[in-house]
Amino acid sequence: MRDIKYEQFWCVRVPKRSGEAVRSALAEMGALQRNAAVRKDQEYLYFPLKDEIDVSVLEVDSSDLKLLRMDFEYEEKQTFASILGFTPSFEMIGDLAIIDSDDPDAAEIADAILLIQKNISTVLGTLSPVTGEFRVREFCVLAGVPKTQTVHREYGCRYEVDLARVYFTPRLGTERKRIADQIGQGDVVVDMFAGAGPFSILIAKTVGQVQVVAIDKNPVAIEYLKRNAQLNRTPNIKIICGDVRDVAPDLRNISDHLIMNLPHSANEFLNSALTILKPGGVIHYYDIAPDSDPFTGAREAIEQAASDCGLGEQGALVRVLGERVVRSYSPHQYNVALDVRVG
Ligand SMILES: C[S@@+](CC[C@H](N)C(=O)[O-])C[C@H]1O[C@@H](n2cnc3c(N)ncnc32)[C@H](O)[C@@H]1O
Repeated sequence: MRDIKYEQFWCVRVPKRSGEAVRSALAEMGALQRNAAVRKDQEYLYFPLKDEIDVSVLEVDSSDLKLLRMDFEYEEKQTFASILGFTPSFEMIGDLAIIDSDDPDAAEIADAILLIQKNISTVLGTLSPVTGEFRVREFCVLAGVPKTQTVHREYGCRYEVDLARVYFTPRLGTERKRIADQIGQGDVVVDMFAGAGPFSILIAKTVGQVQVVAIDKNPVAIEYLKRNAQLNRTPNIKIICGDVRDVAPDLRNISDHLIMNLPHSANEFLNSALTILKPGGVIHYYDIAPDSDPFTGAREAIEQAASDCGLGEQGALVRVLGERVVRSYSPHQYNVALDVRVG
């Protein structure tokens, strides 16, 4: 829906033959009234202006130019503030926008997003938190094309995902790049909870000489991971569908880097991780922890698992290389990451 009005502006009348020269001179000066449509008749073009100007400053033959006041078709530029009276918060994944469906203004916000964000085709409302073993959530379509599938672009990679069936968040984009930057040529990387593949594919695509093993228990995630490996031309990923606890014995001591992106329960998989990790390899471990003490729980869990596997008493062979807060998770909880060398 376009909001067209008529409004009177100053304008420059220009013979058609000088139109382009005058238009670029006005644009360079920042003098053009952008939301108003240029008018024309048989002989002249009429360029609407933000304000009155001295036409002699235009570096073109000004003898034919005339300054006038005229009515122009004018499109009011719409903003969230002009439509809603406030700016809503929403997440964008590919051409999907996501908002909280409990918001009392959800329907109006969804319509406003479609109107203003020209790259968005669908506005989804969340109906549940991220939940269950496969870490997915339910959505309803609030506006636009009825779909939950999209292609998201990040750091030169493309990820096809169906948000109702596979976990995906763009909020870890910087974190994924940070991990990819730590991987060396010739390394073997195991992505224990790979989802649709955003860690695996970025690493496989950008590091060069690297072998990635990507595991997930959700068969739909594996379907998308396979598609994404093709889409991004990354044949150097071995894709395994299964529970990482069952898969780990076949991957003993292969991994230089191990990604454990299952923040609520990664601690339950540390034995499998230590089976897969080479001695001296690095675990990239994700946790949800209280903001008052974000790292101790994860560090102690890794030290305990290492000690249980006979890798030195009380964490003697565990060295924390880095700890950071990735994002806020809830009012008093952080999503944190630790890079830990073991053995
Ligand atoms: C938080 S998501 C992370 C996905 C991906 N790393 C990303 O950043 O988008 C965790 C993933 O672990 C998978 N998962 C959960 N339990 C698993 C298990 N026992 N073995 C393998 N994968 C598992 C889920 O299906 C889900 O795709």
